[in-house]
Amino acid sequence: MQSDALVFFGASGDLAQKKVFPALQALARDGRLNIPVIGFARSDWTDAHLREHARKSIEKHARLDREAFERLARHLHYVRGEYTDPAAFKRLAKALGKAEHPLHYLAITPSSFETAIHGLEAVGATRGARVVVEKPFGRDLESARALNATLHASFDESSIFRIDHYLGKEPVQNLLYYRFANSFLEPIWNRDHVASVQITMAEAFGVQGRGAFYDEVGTIRDVVQNHLLQIIALLAMDAPINQSAQALRDEKLRLFHAIRPLSPDAIVRGQFEGYRKEKGVAPDSGVETFVAVRLAIDTWRWAGVPFYIRAGKNLPLTCTEVMVELARPPQNLFPRDPLHPANSVRFRLSPDVVIAQGARVKAPGEAMVGNNIELVAHDDSSDTMLPYERLLGDALRGDAALFTRDDCVEAAWAVVQPVLGGGGPVEPYAPGTWGPQSADQLIIGRGGWHNPVLKDPS
Ligand code: BG6
Repeated sequence: MQSDALVFFGASGDLAQKKVFPALQALARDGRLNIPVIGFARSDWTDAHLREHARKSIEKHARLDREAFERLARHLHYVRGEYTDPAAFKRLAKALGKAEHPLHYLAITPSSFETAIHGLEAVGATRGARVVVEKPFGRDLESARALNATLHASFDESSIFRIDHYLGKEPVQNLLYYRFANSFLEPIWNRDHVASVQITMAEAFGVQGRGAFYDEVGTIRDVVQNHLLQIIALLAMDAPINQSAQALRDEKLRLFHAIRPLSPDAIVRGQFEGYRKEKGVAPDSGVETFVAVRLAIDTWRWAGVPFYIRAGKNLPLTCTEVMVELARPPQNLFPRDPLHPANSVRFRLSPDVVIAQGARVKAPGEAMVGNNIELVAHDDSSDTMLPYERLLGDALRGDAALFTRDDCVEAAWAVVQPVLGGGGPVEPYAPGTWGPQSADQLIIGRGGWHNPVLKDPS
């Protein structure tokens, strides 16, 4: 069933500007948004203001496609109001007109979810409706459970769409596809052949004016509990029985349950120098802007294989990359060959999409020594669908495969729960470096962290 209206809470916010309006334009371009789109926010705006704001946002953060934008603008309406104001929800109900299956998109802070949902309920706008909620979904296991209870009081789980925009990214989709559309990977994708798995999510920028938000959150809540655990799930889960939302999420859940809750001695937290001077950040903040962790997955497939995650702000470059290191050959037939990296499979998830296999080939000449090469299976930086375009399009159709289910989001919180309290001081690091040096101790004896290299560093 297709939704017949989109109500968009937080229409004057930051996320709307950067991600949502560009995605709505793309949906309109492809003829997938022939329904009323109602922006709801506190700003004292009219329909015309909202359209102008949408146009400016798209010009700033994407590219204006005049024809597509005109199509979108025709459907855009605005309702002004506080989430606590019943009269505002009456105006919203009027704007919804005959719509029977609206999609309510809550691009607002979770602390306002409950009030907004009550407002919708009071005017009967939750009946037959779906709801999309933004991350962060809570700030720990307990608050995530409470949020789930709030949502379940008004919506069936099948009508709830929890966003993790990483799942809408083309290369993340490709991870799932590459693993399960091929047969050659599966026989080696286990503890017998994989020595370790590393994921680096590096960002060359700081908190970009989001200091107040970030200081409440920190790296573990911001990207590890969601984006990076989702990547681990796609890398490590067993094959789902089909590609339905239920089958995919069942396998992810099994995997999350098998990840051992993070131990404080397998984590290094860092904070870039200068962070405490950012606007909105406490002058004595102990919040991490960098984290490195070692995870264990207690399954027959992965027992004993360390999984490492490293993520941070103000690192040397912006790139997300997975490096799967394979076991070394059982004997070294070529003793004159210098120590070289083990075979590997590398998935670059951003800024470009690369899948490559690291191997060793003989260097021309008399000696049996070699070079490292990469067999590139896929290398593509072409423009693809925006994550929010894919996700909102899916939610409008009711396809939940790329959204997080209640039990999965709770299981992912359970993994990080033991280290959420801070636990020990954060170690300072200089902006533009790979974080505190003690992050290297975590991975010692494994050849160290693999630092991604950009093709075009400009
Ligand atoms: C968001 C985090 O969820 O993901 C940000 O809040 C982070 O801190 C962002 O920068 C990264 O996403 P992307 O799509 O820009 O790589």
